[in-house]
Amino acid sequence: MTTSSAPGKVYLFGEHAVVYGEPAVPCAVGVHASVTVDRRDEGLRIRAGELSLDGFAVEYRPGTSVPEIDAPADLLAAATSYVGEAVEQARAAAAERDADTATGFELTVDSDIPLGAGLGSSAAVVVATIDAVTRELGVTLPREELADRAYRVEHAVQDGDASRADTFCVTMGGAVRVEGEDCRTLATPDLPLVVGYDGETGETGDLVAGVRQLRETYPFAADTVSAIGDLVRRGESALAAEDRATLGELMNINHGLLSALGVSARPLDEMVWAARDAGARGAKLTGAGGGGCVVALGDPAELERALSYTTACERAFHAPLDTDGLRRGES
Ligand code: PMV
Repeated sequence: MTTSSAPGKVYLFGEHAVVYGEPAVPCAVGVHASVTVDRRDEGLRIRAGELSLDGFAVEYRPGTSVPEIDAPADLLAAATSYVGEAVEQARAAAAERDADTATGFELTVDSDIPLGAGLGSSAAVVVATIDAVTRELGVTLPREELADRAYRVEHAVQDGDASRADTFCVTMGGAVRVEGEDCRTLATPDLPLVVGYDGETGETGDLVAGVRQLRETYPFAADTVSAIGDLVRRGESALAAEDRATLGELMNINHGLLSALGVSARPLDEMVWAARDAGARGAKLTGAGGGGCVVALGDPAELERALSYTTACERAFHAPLDTDGLRRGES
C-alpha cells in the first residue's frame, strides 16, 4: 500500500493573461488530495472516499466501457478520466525503468479541495496518483518528471486546454512562476491567505474564449491583458520583499482588471468586498472566474468569519501557504 498527497493552489496573480504568454504566480495552499494505492489481480478499482461531495466506487477494466453507477457525473468523469490516465502515465514511467507493471490497482482518493472550483483539485489528484502508483511499482520519479507527466494527463483529458501552472505548482509547493513552458519555484514568505467558495463552477473554456474575443475586438482589452503581465512582474518583487501591503494592493488591481475582462461574477465580487470590508489587504477571484473561489490576504480569523457570514459564500477556510507540494506517505 502506498499513499501520496498533493495540495490545492490559488493564483496570487496572472490567470487568463498567462494564456497569452504573460507570467503568472500561482501558489500552493493547505488543502489536500491524497491517493492510496493497493495492488489487485487486474483492472482498476477507484474509490472516492472523503471528497467535498458524496463518495462512490467504480470498478472497470481500462479499455472497456465504464459501468453505470449512481454518482454525480463530474465526479465519475474525474475518477475515470483523470485517474485512469494518470495510472497509464505511471505504468509508462515505471516500464521505462524496467519495473514489472503487470498488476491491477485499487485507488482510494480522499480530498478536501472543492471540486472544479479553480483550486487545482484535478492536478492534485493526478500528481498524487502518478506518484503513489509509480512508488507502488518500486520507482520514485523526480518532481520535475512528475509535474511533466501530470501536465500530459491534464492536456490529454482536457483536449489540449491545459497549462503547466497547476501541476507544477502542486508538485513543487510554495509560490511558482509560470511563463509559457518556463516554470520556476519562487522564494515565498508565509502569507495569511483565506479562500471563499461560492459553491459554483466556472466554465473555464467559455471564460477563456470570452477574454479572447474581447482582446480581438478592443485593443484596450489587449492592453488590459498586458497590464496584468506588468502587475505580475511587480508582484514578484513584492513577494520577494515580503511586502504584504503592495501584494494586497496588486491583488485588488488584478481583480479589477479581471473584472474588466468580464470574468468576475456577483458572488465573487460580494466575497471580495466582504473580505476587504473585514480589513483584507487585498482580495481577488482566483482561477478562471465565473464562479468558484476568491482569495484574500489578511487576518485569517477575521476574514474567515466575514466570508462565512456572506450570503454568496458557501464555505470559507484559512488556506496557509503549503511549502511541501507533493508529500510521500509510508509505503
Ligand atoms: O480555474 P483554473 O484554476 O483551472 O485556472 C484557469 C486559469 C486560466 O488562466 C484562466 C486558464 C489557463 O489554462 O491558464
